[in-house]
Amino acid sequence: MREISLHILDIVQNSVVAGATRIEVFVDEDIAADRLTVEINDDGCGMSKDFLAKVIDPFTTKRTTRKVGLGIPLFKNAAESTGGSFEIQSELGKGTCVRAVFGYSHIDRQPLGDMADTMLGLFTSYEQIDFVYRHKVNDKEFEVVTADLKAVLEGVSFTAPEVYLWLSEFLKEGESELN
Ligand SMILES: Nc1ncnc2c1ncn2[C@@H]1O[C@H](COP(=O)(O)OP(=O)(O)OP(=O)(O)O)[C@@H](O)[C@H]1O
Ligand SMILES: [Mg+2]
Repeated sequence: MREISLHILDIVQNSVVAGATRIEVFVDEDIAADRLTVEINDDGCGMSKDFLAKVIDPFTTKRTTRKVGLGIPLFKNAAESTGGSFEIQSELGKGTCVRAVFGYSHIDRQPLGDMADTMLGLFTSYEQIDFVYRHKVNDKEFEVVTADLKAVLEGVSFTAPEVYLWLSEFLKEGESELN
């Protein structure tokens, strides 16, 4: 994968498959600390300790135990190859938290990618899910809480043409103001 946003998309899709009703996506670019942190929290079905261990390192597992998924191992590798770290906390029936820390200025760090487009795609594809998206760049912050948007829209879909256009501009503008 060439961009961190594509990893985010994959990890959020895991949360969707896990039946999450609420998903938090947090991107924190702390240039002084030379760190880019991505955190994805969900209230989906969670994983047992044993299963989680296999998911994080699929190559130590016998192939027959599960289909070999690569979303998590690829994200882990992308973070760790920049001198960063990776962890997952998960509890069956409660949810999952995935946290990846990248070395900001490391030569192998992938670009973040287009977060406005990524979040627009997620908000409109999974409208029934409440998303909280927060992007920090140093001391600037942009936050979107889709439940608040839905309350204002009173049942009009994010995919209604005029809403979609507004949402797209809102996300682009919010992102651009971080720089
Ligand atoms: N947030 C989550 N909640 C519950 N289970 C999860 C979560 N994320 C991952 N899993 C479990 O871990 C498995 C591995 O995830 P991973 O993203 O590495 O591969 P995958 O989704 O199966 O395949 P792909 O390579 O298409 O991503 C999933 O199939 C799922 O069973
Ligand atoms: Mg996956």
